[in-house]
Amino acid sequence: MEIIIQPSAEAASTLAARHVARLVREKPNAILGLATGSTPLALYRELIRLHRDDGLDFSHVTTFNLDEYVGLAPTHPASYHAFMHENFFAHLNVPASRIHIPDGLATDIPTHCRAYEDAISSAGGLDLQILGIGSDGHIGFNEPSSSLASRTRIKTLTPETRDDNARFFDSPASVPHHVITMGVGTIMDARQVLLLAFGEKKAHAIATAVEGPITAMNPASILQMHPVAKCLLDEPAATQLTRRDYYRWVFEQKPEWQKV
Ligand code: F6R
Repeated sequence: MEIIIQPSAEAASTLAARHVARLVREKPNAILGLATGSTPLALYRELIRLHRDDGLDFSHVTTFNLDEYVGLAPTHPASYHAFMHENFFAHLNVPASRIHIPDGLATDIPTHCRAYEDAISSAGGLDLQILGIGSDGHIGFNEPSSSLASRTRIKTLTPETRDDNARFFDSPASVPHHVITMGVGTIMDARQVLLLAFGEKKAHAIATAVEGPITAMNPASILQMHPVAKCLLDEPAATQLTRRDYYRWVFEQKPEWQKV
């Protein structure tokens, strides 16, 4: 994993956006894996700015989101459909037909999950997956103990994740217990992965994912096995990394063209 520590979440998000923009310019029909939550918001804002001010074109891009809450209609304000529309798709030109988000109202969830996997494969596989990380180490909603080979399926959220996400709902009790999420294996099949983590609350999960053993108890730790995984952090998220000075030094030594 390449560890990139930046002075702020804004700076890390700008670097991440530059990386995504370069991919989209080089491969206009790129297949992007997208995340929700607070973490990618600044990255999405910067991509929207690049679309508006620099003409970054998403008209041939295809997207697949990581996850959705089971039981929430796309119109529910806390659904990830609504989140993505409000924070991303409403502001740039990805055609609706190229946007894929798991259907929280699917009546036959296993069939829906298989179809989601098939759609990713038929599109040609994910070129780049954007990830946040849960305070318990989850990626997508693959909670600790998730199979590291898992594919898109239904998962039960931990009480910790339900508490973390309660801020998006009217009350803690209304956070759904179940989600549909890409599996760890689905994420690992992406040709590149960008993991973003900001704030001290993520410091422990990041330290165990990056410097701990690979374990299903911290699903993000499997990214150590990914050939092209970049981990973009702000200073607070990097505080528990024992080799943070080394990671900073490595990044500073890189030629400009290689700095994401
Ligand atoms: C979101 C997702 C989750 C979040 C994680 C961090 O689609 O899959 O893994 O990335 O829960 O959430 P935030 O960014 O809100 O701290």
